[in-house]
Amino acid sequence: MNLKGRDFLKLIDYTPEEIGYLIELAAEYKAKKKAGIPHNDYQGKNIALIFEKTSTRTRCSFEVAAHDLGIMTTYLDPAASQIGRKESIADTARVLSGIYDGIEYRGFGQEIVEELAQYSSVPVWNGLTNEFHPTQILADFLTIKEHFGRLKGINFVYMGDARYNMGNSLMVGCAKMGLNFTASAPEKYFPDTKLVEYCKKVAAENGSTITFETDPLKAVKNADVIYTDVWVSMGEPVEVWEERICELSPYQVNKTLMEAAGEKAVFMHCLPAYHDLKTGVGKEMGERFGRDSMEVTDEVFESSQSIVFKEAENRMHTIKAVIAATI
Ligand code: CP
Ligand code: NVA
Repeated sequence: MNLKGRDFLKLIDYTPEEIGYLIELAAEYKAKKKAGIPHNDYQGKNIALIFEKTSTRTRCSFEVAAHDLGIMTTYLDPAASQIGRKESIADTARVLSGIYDGIEYRGFGQEIVEELAQYSSVPVWNGLTNEFHPTQILADFLTIKEHFGRLKGINFVYMGDARYNMGNSLMVGCAKMGLNFTASAPEKYFPDTKLVEYCKKVAAENGSTITFETDPLKAVKNADVIYTDVWVSMGEPVEVWEERICELSPYQVNKTLMEAAGEKAVFMHCLPAYHDLKTGVGKEMGERFGRDSMEVTDEVFESSQSIVFKEAENRMHTIKAVIAATI
């Protein structure tokens, strides 16, 4: 498998075999790291990490993964670069391509990272856009594989806002890798019709299904994985909280939902999560709307069925695989 020079912008651009290869490579790097076997085979390389939105997992994963591979990183935060304000994406891409061997970009519209890649002569990696979060899906699937021993045939249920980066990317990933994907939310939160049509076709080729269910208890029947994400994503206006809480509350992942799925089901979340009032936003919204949690209860988040921290660790191993395979 040769992915040298390839961008990693969305899973749509990758075949099931290529996605499977990246997950396997991540597992190999994880085993090496655990065994203390050095793998700094990329010494002398440099990568730029552009973040136009905040991050904990993605930034730390890129920095540690690069360091383990022997690669040097430069972090550019929204305030520390000229991007967009004084310099166009096309110019930035050509400048950074001359200095770096790879560029990570986290920002707003998918068209921005696509333009960056178009004008860049080195690989560009999508660290999250409004539409897609492809490195997250590799980590999620490595975690599912470790837990269940397979991806094909897994019943994957996504609760909540399925039309944003996580819902979109998970649906594409499931279609490509043969997991049965169900999204549960009010209809207005279902993904874009064109993307759904594409995914249904791909899923059929890979022996799986894409379904939508407005009844949360029906949706989780026979679920292996119950996944959710925040109800209000980065970059969305604070005013939408009230509407989201009102419309998505029936889809909160709680004990009743986990029990309806059964003991074998696991809980997953890309994180960060509003499962208690110990965050600034969680506290403010919780107090304003009289709640102690949002998309998932603290009880489920902290339960033995929750594998969210294994999932978070796998961000680093999978991002390492993406860098190593493409640079
Ligand atoms: N899951 C994820 O991308 O987390 P960060 O926003 O902290 O990078
Ligand atoms: N949907 C969330 C994902 C965070 C990893 C957001 O975009 O904020």
